[in-house]
Amino acid sequence: MIIAVDGPTASGKGTIARGLAKHFSLPHLDTGLLYRAVGYQVRLTGGDPDNPLDAASAVNFPDSLLNEPLLRTEAVGALASRVSVHKRVRAALLARQRIFAAQQGGAVLDGRDIGTVVAPDADIKLFVTASLAARAARRLHECRTRGEDAALPDITADVARRDERDRHRSEAPLIQAADAVLLDTTHVTAEEALAQAIHIVGQRA
Ligand code: DC
Repeated sequence: MIIAVDGPTASGKGTIARGLAKHFSLPHLDTGLLYRAVGYQVRLTGGDPDNPLDAASAVNFPDSLLNEPLLRTEAVGALASRVSVHKRVRAALLARQRIFAAQQGGAVLDGRDIGTVVAPDADIKLFVTASLAARAARRLHECRTRGEDAALPDITADVARRDERDRHRSEAPLIQAADAVLLDTTHVTAEEALAQAIHIVGQRA
């Protein structure tokens, strides 16, 4: 069983994907982390994230980078969004994601283009969303929990900018697959959202 979970930043898709993987005993891949590693590697090597060649050469990041706690920061999320517009970056990461999705027994993948590009034949597709205000408030809470200095107007602008870039790029933009189930988490807790997702998957599995 392959479960594809897509959605914009801070929609709750990561928590839902992790929870589904645990509930259904499936391996989970947070594909955003791969793009974050590329963005971070570009910075480490002094490259320009908006330059397609610099970004493409950063896809050979060492695997150990995936454990770097800084990858989770808002600053690296913005770098990831910038490198993710480049065709060569997406092509290089696609193979890695498809190999993960093809493992025996299935997998849960979360990202922006899982149901549309990485695993268009996924058994279950969820598109997780929430209002901009709800997502910015969650992101602010996460930043403060990590000890990052953050203010709501800046975070709201960052989230909106990232949405705009992820939705309007020409390569694999963030879009709900025609056969994806929409899950709006604006007015529910993380636990309630996960329970809804488990119910949807249980019905279709
Ligand atoms: O899910 P995230 O916030 O960790 O993702 C960081 C960025 O990576 C996101 O803004 C766009 C990019 N990304 C992507 O283009 N495709 C994916 N499947 C996952 C992430």
